[in-house]
Amino acid sequence: MNDLSPLLTDEGQSLLDELRDLDPARELAVATRLRRDHPAALVSAAIGQARLRQRAVAKFGAEDAYRMYFTPHGVEQATRGAVAEHRARRFAALGVRTVADLCSGIGGDAIALARAGISVLAVDRDPLTAATARANARALGLAGLIEVREADVTDIDTSAYDAVFVDPARRGGRGRIFDPEAYSPPLSWALEAARARPYAALKIAPGVPHELVPDDFGAEWISYEGDVKEAVLWSGPGTGAGTVRATLLPAGTTLTGRGLPNPPVRPVGRYLYEPDGAVIRAHLVAEVAESVGGGLIDETIAYITADEAHPALPYATGYEITDVLPFHLKNLKALVREREIGTLTVKKRGSAIEPEELRRRVKPKGPNAATVFLTRVAGAPSMLIGKRM
Ligand SMILES: C[S@@+](CC[C@H](N)C(=O)[O-])C[C@H]1O[C@@H](n2cnc3c(N)ncnc32)[C@H](O)[C@@H]1O
Repeated sequence: MNDLSPLLTDEGQSLLDELRDLDPARELAVATRLRRDHPAALVSAAIGQARLRQRAVAKFGAEDAYRMYFTPHGVEQATRGAVAEHRARRFAALGVRTVADLCSGIGGDAIALARAGISVLAVDRDPLTAATARANARALGLAGLIEVREADVTDIDTSAYDAVFVDPARRGGRGRIFDPEAYSPPLSWALEAARARPYAALKIAPGVPHELVPDDFGAEWISYEGDVKEAVLWSGPGTGAGTVRATLLPAGTTLTGRGLPNPPVRPVGRYLYEPDGAVIRAHLVAEVAESVGGGLIDETIAYITADEAHPALPYATGYEITDVLPFHLKNLKALVREREIGTLTVKKRGSAIEPEELRRRVKPKGPNAATVFLTRVAGAPSMLIGKRM
């Protein structure tokens, strides 16, 4: 389908309503029935859109997803609602009133910005994607705040806007692109576009090396329910040039770096803390270690050990450790049997062992639960057994 308009007619809308709970297993039968009363092309377009909406629920929630429109790439590349909302709130708190959203896709970020009261120029060069963003602005009652323009972002004059936001395409014909200069548009272009306005945010891949963050930008790594989603480079007064931060969603807590040196390595204590991925990517393990009075179990591994219990720490999950043993499958098997552990969570850092394979070989059985960490302690392959605090 390369035209959204048939779906926006009354007939298209009633088909979409009917297909809301489309069961993939019944798709063929449903399509055959609908084709008796509606044009075949419209039925396939509606079924395709119904499927995309179902996929989009995870990112946008059902209430929005079933009112919005998507393209396959658009849903894949869109920013998750909660992440876009966090960013939009940060822009609004900086006093930004107008944003040029350069590479707007189907409008994931533009929608959140508009809901934060910001006027948005949403630009995308792909005609269907731009039309989809326009339909979304209308469907969500935000057309008054979002102007969608089908254009190449490099042709846009942003001088009338307080801020730019750039979310470049990071996928090419052969999958994910890791080199920021291969993004569309390239990171160097986005940095210059950012420097031309008072405020800016540039979304980049979370794996980007810290050396690539220019000194006049602050970097924020964002996770949602423990999964690292993205990194954002911010510029402008109050955005923390030269600093790093980790933001954990949905809680919305932010840890800002203080430039602490690497934490010391120390013997495994009673507690183990597993930092959130955003904390690790932002290189803020030392800040968390300091807050629990702890150190590392190995200089290359991001597990923190301490003697103090901090069960409600936002930036790391705490475990009480019962055993620290050299890694040995037979010994683990015996221990799991003896303690009647039926639910064995396997975590690993610095170990080549596959958790699934380990569970298959250990055959956990019994009423108890435990976590085993496969890792290195001061260089030696080890297993730490514990329980979540
Ligand atoms: C990662 S997506 C944006 C997703 C969006 N932030 C959202 O949440 O829905 C990147 C978009 O950039 C567009 N794009 C890439 N290069 C562009 C260019 N030079 N000019 C305009 N749009 C471009 C692509 O068509 C794609 O839709």
